[in-house]
Amino acid sequence: MAGKYHVAIVGATGAVGLELLRVLEQRDFPASDLRLLASPRSAGKRLRFRGGDHEVSRLDEDSFRGIDLAFFSAGSETAKKFAPLACRAGAVVIDNSSAFRMEPEVPLVLPEVNPGDVKAHRGIIANPNCTTAIALMALFPLHRAFSLRRVFGASYQAVSGTGARAIDELRRQVEASVRGADASPEVYPHPIAFNVLPHVDRFLESGYTGEEMKLQNEGRKMMHLPEFRASVTCVRVPVYRAHSVALSAEFERPVSLEKARDVLAKAPGLDLIDEPRLNRYPTPLEVAGKDNCQVGRLRLDAALDNGLALWVAGDQLLKGAALNAVQIAELL
Ligand code: A2P
Repeated sequence: MAGKYHVAIVGATGAVGLELLRVLEQRDFPASDLRLLASPRSAGKRLRFRGGDHEVSRLDEDSFRGIDLAFFSAGSETAKKFAPLACRAGAVVIDNSSAFRMEPEVPLVLPEVNPGDVKAHRGIIANPNCTTAIALMALFPLHRAFSLRRVFGASYQAVSGTGARAIDELRRQVEASVRGADASPEVYPHPIAFNVLPHVDRFLESGYTGEEMKLQNEGRKMMHLPEFRASVTCVRVPVYRAHSVALSAEFERPVSLEKARDVLAKAPGLDLIDEPRLNRYPTPLEVAGKDNCQVGRLRLDAALDNGLALWVAGDQLLKGAALNAVQIAELL
């Protein structure tokens, strides 16, 4: 990128939006100015960026006049309605929602996996699902070494993936529980404090949830691997920040632990933390706030031929959302 860009953030007050502000500042992104947009509830609020106060405006049809680049993180409905308007106003949209990810003409990009796909964009580029992004940071380098066939797994997903209201809900329920009081669930159908919910996203006819099919669907698109299959159970856990995923991956070619370790240790954006005898393996608390994802607990899978079992963790607000979106913008 050359020069300075007029940048908008749609959903600036949300969990990902606030992270976007931090990432843009940290990476010294060449933004000449920043337009912060959210719902009417937040109009007039002020957010800090590069030492200055910036006022949040309400998102409307005229919000994108003069904007070159718009980061969207305000859910699918808002993206469907406003991303086309932003494109018409001349902006390139990087959308964090699932609204456009599987549209054939919209590139879905994880820079460590398919940076070249960004070139084909026609105004909108989609940011992948957070759990899929974190899983692929380890699966893709292994795929290049051994040819990935299929994956079984379970995720352990933080409440910040649901958004700011869910972070409040967990805090409220933990505090109430410590006082011996009740705190009824509002965001989730059951209490999330001291509980785990095998329920992320809506249930489909097949019995899987939408979230559970994203690793297969988005994985196929980003890895250019149309036969890839994934069977995952997505679980919401009482963790504030950072997702983890336990994976058993089966490959076409024979695997070796030594080569797998070597490949993962060299993979960009990934740290291999795998000294179980010293109690060293990735955890959400450890990886929270870090740009790199972490992989560990690497072993030959006991149930699959040519299989590896592994554990991957990553800050889903960063690599799973804000950081990846800014990395896509940097690719442009
Ligand atoms: P607001 O804070 O005004 O509700 P999160 O994922 O943390 O829940 O954040 C969602 C983000 O999307 C927030 O910034 C929220 O603004 C914004 N948002 C939600 N609905 C709309 C909408 N209809 N128009 C514009 N922004 C919206």
